[in-house]
Amino acid sequence: MARKKIALIGGGQIGGVLAQLIALKQLGDVVLFDVVEGLPQGKSLDIVEASRVDGFDISLKGTNDYKDIEGADLVIVTAGLPRKPGMSRDDLLVTNAKIMNTVAENVKMYASNSIVIVVSNPLDAMVTLFKKVSGFPTNRVMGQAGVLDSSRFSTFIAWELGVSVKDVNAMVLGGHGDTMVPIVRYANVNGIPVMELLERKYNDKAKAQEVMAAMVKRTKMAGGEVVELLKTGSAFYSPASSSIAMAEAIIYDEKRILPTCAFLNGQFGVEGYYVGVPAVLGANGIERVVEFALDSEEKAALDNSVNAVKSLIADMERLGF
Ligand code: APR
Repeated sequence: MARKKIALIGGGQIGGVLAQLIALKQLGDVVLFDVVEGLPQGKSLDIVEASRVDGFDISLKGTNDYKDIEGADLVIVTAGLPRKPGMSRDDLLVTNAKIMNTVAENVKMYASNSIVIVVSNPLDAMVTLFKKVSGFPTNRVMGQAGVLDSSRFSTFIAWELGVSVKDVNAMVLGGHGDTMVPIVRYANVNGIPVMELLERKYNDKAKAQEVMAAMVKRTKMAGGEVVELLKTGSAFYSPASSSIAMAEAIIYDEKRILPTCAFLNGQFGVEGYYVGVPAVLGANGIERVVEFALDSEEKAALDNSVNAVKSLIADMERLGF
């Protein structure tokens, strides 16, 4: 079987870690594209020079020429500016929309059959714009947000309960902003509801709810927490790992159900917008969106999040994108 060709558009912090993870996992041959001359070439050379030590055998090419992504099977887009302290993801809108426009035009030109995972922020708007400019079918354009938000939520739950994070299942839906919706009701440790474990730990229902509320809040603010600490950029290890989980599901046709920023055609009562929902990822990209019943509180929270996405998209359209 021929190796997959994976194009990474954006060779910054996330792009570099993506390239290294793909190499270590031998997921495919990598083309790392960036507009900054020397950056993708330098990173590619640096990573590939560890191939003897790490024992991987793929090709890695750094480039400033879109032509090199020709025929890519999978494209992961991280081009764009990251947040600085005090900035919201939406502040990035204008700058990154201009960049995404160019990226989508070039991916359409050189890799018209590819499956695309967008990571650049503001995520929901950038995925929407990529889809609009490329004209790709919706199963081939998705965004990474929920895998990371869910991983953050799971991490906090594992710390709180003193259990391995490997046994924690928790999902975050909605837009990738402060209105995201951690689904508390279904959060579990090997099937045991997290709320029950918290109630047993504290022997107090109100205290358990308070502790969960704090974890939910931290999850929503987790990206900002990293930005405040780093001061010079935003999270990059965990977004890269999360994007790789989605890429693996696609490359190996795993049919994993991952929280994915997917285009909705009426599912969850949403028509015509990209929103974070559980989706089956396989060789055809988003193979289907998985619906489940939300209770009234979850539904209200998701509606609120969808409204935030709608107003972001309206802002983007007003700006001419
Ligand atoms: N085409 C391709 N790459 C571009 C373009 C462009 N038009 N404009 C800028 N870039 C590149 C930059 O040169 C930089 O190397 O995008 C890269 C972005 O890398 P970083 O600034 O290191 O940002 P990173 O942490 O990787 O985050 C990228 O993902 O999570 C989001 O909010 C984050 O929007 C940001 C994106």
